Amino acid sequence: MQKHYYVFFNSFFKVKEVMKHSLVVLLIIFVSACGKNTISYQEIGERTHQSKEVAKKFGMQLKAKLQAAMKEGGPINAISVCNEQAPLIAKQLSDETGWDIHRTSLKPRATQPDVWEKSMLEDFEKKLSKGDSFDMLFAQDVVKHNDKASFRFIKAIETEKVCLVCHGENIADPIKTKISELYPNDVATGFKEGDIRGAFSIIQPLE
Ligand code: HEC
Repeated sequence: MQKHYYVFFNSFFKVKEVMKHSLVVLLIIFVSACGKNTISYQEIGERTHQSKEVAKKFGMQLKAKLQAAMKEGGPINAISVCNEQAPLIAKQLSDETGWDIHRTSLKPRATQPDVWEKSMLEDFEKKLSKGDSFDMLFAQDVVKHNDKASFRFIKAIETEKVCLVCHGENIADPIKTKISELYPNDVATGFKEGDIRGAFSIIQPLE
């Protein structure tokens, strides 16, 4: 009986010892793998805050231009705002910051999501269906992008009533025609108010 206890304790300590060593090895691998990619929590917080501000600016500038164009010449006229002004605003903001700033979507008109964006957008869909508000639908990470350590940020964009003219379920024929001329592979329709239309995506190189 006593021998049994001994064997039990002995193997228990052995397991513990092995686990301890594995943990140390894992920690070393983790730290060296992260290396330069690691930034402090404070820096993550700051970069997240700055990204949110830039995304907000992008959204506000675009919406102002969109609404003005709709008022002036109707939705057909506004298509050119989205077609020309959206990439232009994105480029201006990218030049100002040195970051890659763009929009994307699981059902894109112009810009396909990459693997990271796709998985975040899918996660946002799940969170929205569980009742999360749009304020909560953002994410950030430090990852390798084009072989460079990069801080990535993504924030969901809500479909509002004004968006339905060009992204909704019943799109008027002249608008449909114009959109399919400009975007033959368009799948950015069929949205309802409150759906996730897409996301602002920001890539900040860290090296
Ligand atoms: C007048 C038509 C029109 C309206 C209204 C409109 N969009 Fe778009 N949207 C477009 C076009 C055209 C593009 C493609 C832009 C490009 O080439 O970069 C686009 C692209 C996008 C994209 C980029 C992702 C993708 O599908 O390629 C998002 C996100 C987006 N729109 C969101 C919105 C939201 C949100 C609203 C409402 C606030 C809205 N749009 C209203 C025409 C419109």
